[in-house]
Amino acid sequence: MSKAIRKVLIGGNWKSNGDLAFIKSFVPSVLNTLKFEDSKCQVVVSPTSLHMHLVKTLISNNVQVSCQNVSQYPSGAYTGEVTSKMLKDLGFNWTLTGHSERRQFFSESSDVVAVKTKEALDEGLNVIVCIGENLTERTENRTFDVCISQLTPILKNISHLKLWKDIVIAYEPVWAIGTGKTASPEQAQEVHFKLREWLASNVSKDVAQETRIIYGGSVTETNAKDLITQADIDGFLVGGASLKPGFTAIVDSHKYKF
Ligand code: PGA
Repeated sequence: MSKAIRKVLIGGNWKSNGDLAFIKSFVPSVLNTLKFEDSKCQVVVSPTSLHMHLVKTLISNNVQVSCQNVSQYPSGAYTGEVTSKMLKDLGFNWTLTGHSERRQFFSESSDVVAVKTKEALDEGLNVIVCIGENLTERTENRTFDVCISQLTPILKNISHLKLWKDIVIAYEPVWAIGTGKTASPEQAQEVHFKLREWLASNVSKDVAQETRIIYGGSVTETNAKDLITQADIDGFLVGGASLKPGFTAIVDSHKYKF
């Protein structure tokens, strides 16, 4: 296999899970024992915004901490919102945007996701932008069109080409999230390849080569190797399995890339 040209990114999305006891045990016993070289891999975990600070304080290695969602507004009278500026101020450098659960349960449109992404990028955050089709859309052969319809508003909102270096695209088919039904390595690779082609035609060839496109949806320690060895899969966004000791094996799978 040829040498990976992009640094692998392994994200852990804890969703609305975790409490004090879990964090005080999981961070030292799992996160702090992860071993990876910064030049080859980044590990970014996303606890709830309430728990982010504690997790960051307990981490003793190069694991980074991300928010799961961020406000589309700057600071001001927006009750309940966490802003990009606040994240930067507290030393956090990452956020997710557009997770399918935000789109599904909180009615976030692709336009809102694009505004959030722009707000975060303009504040200097790295953003993991989540896209993906649901089962009906896949059955109707609309996977790629749906992904592009979700990415297009983001593309339109990005003020400088250089901001693409701060974007990671997470392809997460909705039918694979939390269901135990992973996309096959070939299914995932096909979408990642097309997304890269789309970036080459619509942004630039360099951006297409440099942008990490990671896969999410029932990634486990068992299927990680077959997925990561696909040419256009640059890492994972892991939900359920990121809360278990097996997360170590998922992080270790990045070694198959090099
Ligand atoms: P899952 O979730 O790994 O539990 O399927 C992935 C995600 O929602 O990011």
